Amino acid sequence: MNEKAVTSLFLVGPMGAGKSTLGRHLAQVLDRPFYDSDRVIEEKTGADIPWIFDVEGEDGFRRRERDVIDELTALDGIVLATGGGAVLNDDNRRHLHERGCVIYLWTPVELQLARTRNDRNRPLLQTGDPERKLQALLEKRDPLYREVAHAVVSTASGNLKKVTDQVLGCLG
Ligand code: S3P
Repeated sequence: MNEKAVTSLFLVGPMGAGKSTLGRHLAQVLDRPFYDSDRVIEEKTGADIPWIFDVEGEDGFRRRERDVIDELTALDGIVLATGGGAVLNDDNRRHLHERGCVIYLWTPVELQLARTRNDRNRPLLQTGDPERKLQALLEKRDPLYREVAHAVVSTASGNLKKVTDQVLGCLG
């Protein structure tokens, strides 16, 4: 039998872009396994993300994230939602770009803010003004999301069906 590898779909973008919701939906539509790198990190660590940041610092979290992204991007035919900071690491960007089709879910800060409000599970938003923080993170990371992505899809409409159709259109 001719076993052909099926290209994986990797979603990148900021916190509150809707990567997990959209990823789970796309996986259902495409009948593929869905992974969320943050949840895999938590399963492997046996602790939640705030605990990892508290005890191991952001550097410790990023090391775990790098290992998980390496492992998951090696799988064929999956849909993967990555954490908003996954693109900070050079290896992650290379692995994502070379091993699958990467979609950047561009999202306005106001929408990110509305979706992450009162969320205790995101350590980077627990101090300072969340709007400024999200704005600063986007300024720094937007070029990295664009560098790694094969296509950019706006989630500004907040319409799951519309965004799903656009992502599927990118897959051809
Ligand atoms: C982070 C985003 C989070 C999570 C961690 C750090 C970031 O994932 O990985 O809190 O650096 O932007 P989501 O983008 O799924 O919220």
